[in-house]
Parts: sequence; C-alpha cells; structure tokens
Amino acid sequence: MKKKPRFFTTPIYYVNAKPHLGHAYTTIAADVATRFMQMDSRDTYFLTGTDEHGDKIVQAAEKQDTSPKEYVDKISKLFQDLWPVLNISNDQFIRTTNPDHIRVVEQVLSKIHDSGDIYFSSYEGLYCFGCERFYQERELVDGKCPDHGTEPEVIRESNYFFRMSKYQDWLIDHIQTHPDFIRPEQYKKEILSFLKEPLEDLCISRPKTRLTWGITLPFDEDYVTYVWFDALVNYISALGYPDSDLFKKFWPTARHFVAKDIIKPHGIYWPIMLKAAGIDIYDGLNVHGFWNVRGSKMSKSIGNVTDPLEVTREFGVDPFRYFLMREMVFGKDANFTEDVIVTRINSDLANDLGNLFSRVLTMTNRYCKQGFSKENLTPRDPDLSLESPARTAIEAFRQAMANCEFHNGTAAVWTFIGLMNKYIDTREPWALAKDETRRPMLETVLYNLMEGLRVVSCLIYPVMPETSSKMQETLGLEPPDPGFYPLDQIMDWGQIKTGLGFSKPSILFPRIEIKPDKKEKKTAKPFKPALKDEITIEDFSKIDLRTGTVIQAEPVEKSEKLLKLLVDLGAETRQIIAGIAKNYTPETIVGKQVLVVANLKEAKLMGQVSQGMVLAAGSKKELILTGPDKKAPDGCPVK
Ligand code: MSP
Repeated sequence: MKKKPRFFTTPIYYVNAKPHLGHAYTTIAADVATRFMQMDSRDTYFLTGTDEHGDKIVQAAEKQDTSPKEYVDKISKLFQDLWPVLNISNDQFIRTTNPDHIRVVEQVLSKIHDSGDIYFSSYEGLYCFGCERFYQERELVDGKCPDHGTEPEVIRESNYFFRMSKYQDWLIDHIQTHPDFIRPEQYKKEILSFLKEPLEDLCISRPKTRLTWGITLPFDEDYVTYVWFDALVNYISALGYPDSDLFKKFWPTARHFVAKDIIKPHGIYWPIMLKAAGIDIYDGLNVHGFWNVRGSKMSKSIGNVTDPLEVTREFGVDPFRYFLMREMVFGKDANFTEDVIVTRINSDLANDLGNLFSRVLTMTNRYCKQGFSKENLTPRDPDLSLESPARTAIEAFRQAMANCEFHNGTAAVWTFIGLMNKYIDTREPWALAKDETRRPMLETVLYNLMEGLRVVSCLIYPVMPETSSKMQETLGLEPPDPGFYPLDQIMDWGQIKTGLGFSKPSILFPRIEIKPDKKEKKTAKPFKPALKDEITIEDFSKIDLRTGTVIQAEPVEKSEKLLKLLVDLGAETRQIIAGIAKNYTPETIVGKQVLVVANLKEAKLMGQVSQGMVLAAGSKKELILTGPDKKAPDGCPVK
C-alpha cells in the first residue's frame, strides 16, 4: 500500500529584518523532516516563504526611505538566496504579495463571511502597534505588552470579527482526540490551558485609514485583512486551494514547524479558520524552543543576532546543520556559542565520525588493496558481526526522527559510531594483519566496519546530505535515483562490493583550531637549548628516518606523559610510545603524518613495547610534532 504523502512547512518569515539563526533552525528542521520522510518512501512537498503585509513592514520600509514593495522584494530575496546555501530542498517559496495567494485569502474570507462567522462590530481595546493586535488586560505584564514592553494604546474602531468562540469546544475536543496534533506535549498543555478561559472573537480587519499595506476585504473596500488571517492562508494557497491536484494530494497532511512564539495563531486561529471555512484540519503542529546566543535572547541592541551565512562560512554547511539538530532538544530552548559549536564539530564530527571513516578506509586500502574476497568473508559470524547494533541504531533513528526528536535521532547514530570505534580497538585489525592464517577474520572485521560506515552514511543523509554522498562515493556505493537510500533498504547487510578496491578517504571534517589565548602568547619565553656534540654524516646515515601516519592513539594507563600510538609505516604498522600526552590528546594526533626513527632498538616504557620514536620539536613543556610539509607516502625514507 502506498504511504500517506506529507506536506512540511516553515512559518513564512516577516521581511522586517534579514534572516538569522532562528529562521535557519526552523527551516533546517523542516528540511531534515522532509528528507527523512522521503527516506521513508513518502511523497513530500516542502514550503517556506515570506510574510510581507502589515504595519511592521510599512514602518521598516519608511525607515529605509523606500516603498513597501521595493522593501519586501529586497528582504524576501535575502531569504530566497539563503536557503540554497544551507542546502534547503523546498519545493516552493511563497510570498504573501503574490496575486495567487491574495486570491485565495479573498476566497476563504468570503466563504467564512457567507457562512455567518464574520461579523461587523465596534470595539474599544488595548492595541499594541508592535504586535499589530489587541490585548486583553490579563495578558499584559505590569500594564505593558509582554513582547515589546510598551504600553498599548486605547483604540476605538469598528471592525470585522471572526467568531472563534463558537468553535472553542470543538477545538478542545479535536486536540484531545488527536494526540499528535500539537507536539511536544508541553505545548499541547499550554494551548489546552489557554483554552480553559473563554476564547475571544478575533478582530480580522484593519481600517484603511490606519493601514493600507494589506489585502482588501472582499466584502468591504475600506478595510484590509489582519496580517495573521492573511499569512496563515499561505499553507493552502501555496498548494493551489481549492481545486489543484497538488492541494488534493497534500492537504490536509501538513506538518507545520514553528517556534513557541507563534503557537497561538497556529494552534488556535488556524484550525478554527479551517473548520469555519469547511476545510480539513491539518495533521500536526511541531513546536520548538528558542535559540539564545551567548546566554541572551537575540537582539540588535545586545549585538548577538547571528547570521547563518557567517556561521556557515566559518564552519561549513553540514557541520552547521548537524550542530543545530544535535544540540537543541526539540521543544526546549538552546544556547549558541562559538565554544559549543567548535566542541561538537571537533568531538562528534572530526573525532568520532571523521576518524572512524579515515581509520577504516586506510586499513581497508592497506590490508585489502584489491578489495574483499568473497571466500574470506563471514560478515554474519555472530562473534564479529555489527549487524545487530546497526539494526538497533536504524530502529532508534527511525522512531526518533518520525517524532521530530532530531537530537535523539542523531544521538542514536553516534552511539553506533562509538561502538564501531571500540570494535576497532578490541579487534585490532593491525594485529590480525600480521598473521596470514587470520586473514578471513581480518577481512570480516574490516568488511563489518565498512558495512557499518555504509549504514551511517545512509542515516546521516537528512541532516548532512553532502557528507552522506561523499562517504558513499568513497565506499563505492551508488544510491538509488533521488540520491539516497530508502530506510527499508539500509538494513540489507552486505551491500559493500567485494573484489574491488576503494579510493582513498578524504578528510570529512577538518578540526577547528581554537584561537590561542593572546595573553599566553605574550608571556611565552624564548627557548634556547645548548647545541649537542658534532657528528659525521656517516653517524647520521645510521639513523633510519621514515614518514608515518598515526592511525590510532590512546593514553598509557597510569602515565600523564605517555601516549600509545599506532603508526602506519606503509609496509608495516608500529606501536610507538611517545611522551607527548601533555601536548597532544589522542583526538588531536590521529591522522597526523610524523617522522619516525624506524631503526631504534625496541624498548619497554611503562610495560608497553615501543617500536621506534616519533620526532618532536621544542622543550619538555611544549612539544611540537614534526612531519613533512605536505603528505608523503607512508614509510618514505627521510634524508
Ligand atoms: N510571519 C510570522 C509567521 C507567519 S506563519 C503563517 C512570523 N514571522 S517571524 O519572522 O517572526 O518568524 C518567527 C519564527 O522564526 C519562529 O516561529 C521560529 O520559527 C523562527 N525563530 C525566530 N527567532 C527564533 C529563535 N530565537 N530561535 C528559534 N527560532 C526562532 O512570526
């Protein structure tokens, strides 16, 4: 049976300021959800856009001395240009100034007006110009607007009202009988608690004497439509309501993504508008929390409004997308600082995933140059197989992603990555490689790791589509047509080809160096050691110096100074104990090419065999590893 299609939307953003981190988050989250649903073999439609009417826009345009139209064109373009940079796969970008949208707003208004749910009445109330809405006394904080901190003005006007109160009981019942209608739970509770109080009718017009930048009411020329009544309709006008095939296919499968600031219009006005207009109610509202930046709400006056383009330029698109999805618990607030993003990138991406990828491919290329041989493989050997943890990861990922728990979905993949890193440490492929009789085991271990990487490459697709395809290319995989693997094909164990070599792994995520503290630099003393006794060229030629790449590193137990390294010397792999633990952590050293004294007599340090020495410059306090100035073949003699 064909699965139900899914329609994903973001809020249409106001064009009174350029896009920031918060807009990027919602749009990336909706993009990830869309891509995930495509993996789940569903047809999807993904909509985003800009909200271009209302007082705020007129004021912003006036400030810049331009007309509202010129102004909205300019800012809307900033959003339209940003999304391709962030790899957003929206099918449409809607603008509320589009004539097609305006026509549908008029249609919906007429329909509700004809059915008697819009009435004309005079009203006196407290109006906040910033929010473009009336407030009730009880909603104010110390008599001021909770969002703007300004005192609302008393306004008396005749206006059109939407009879929301009539639908209050219906809405409560709808929310209670559709458990996934508002998620996560805390926001459902918030809406239900709001609905405990009697619902006021909504003022849906603004007299043209006060505002002209809006959609004229189809039944009264002297009024324009309240901006929210206009904006919410975008979700159906974009699909071509009421008759288009697109509308018939995708409505009412909508999953709206919004942040907590706009749950009331989405959780109350919108379902009631649909109900009153006789249109099916959307499927679900997914509400997330707010990003603060360096501990404070983003604001121009604090100067912490974060530009997604700048972050992407500094850290890359996939790392930025990963960070946002992994760091924010969907529904809760999160904090953005340079330190948190750098730590996530270095530890989760460069270290956990990046090193795993490079270790496995380096070893596979080395030990199975011509590829895996079928006769040697028993990838399902229960002692060696990674099939069962892969299945667990896929299932946990599937469940979390279907519930929009992107943080849990990514965490499930990283649990599997951690397990594979441990698997390498315990299976020690380099040790197996020394014994020809253990060849089948070596190939099986590496094959399992390659299969595990295949699973990871498929699962990271919604969050990091570019990295997913980069990994798949190196793994020799050819994903089916739209460029990704459907969820139910990922588990088929054994898709890595046998009998074919693999290409060299590229670095997936370069480590980000944290800028050193300037103060430290100033106080560093010059280092002038005394020169040693002279030697002859013959003396020097006795030293067999070679290039080698550190493929694994770990601390030596009970030692503060020593690291146990596994160094690839081309023809062989050496275990070398190096006294550099104060200057290098295992994560910072893996992948580096170093110089090795290859003919140094084997020695034991803290009970560990050391088969050589790596060269480092500097003093005991500050050791700096030395290496060739560009990558040389491993095992290359140094003269
Ligand atoms: N135009 C209305 C939406 C109409 S939808 C029919 C609007 N626009 S907005 O530009 O103010 O966008 C609000 C949305 O931007 C939030 O709901 C959220 O999706 C995103 N964010 C804005 N600031 C944010 C954070 N600080 N953190 C996370 N997301 C935030 O409201």
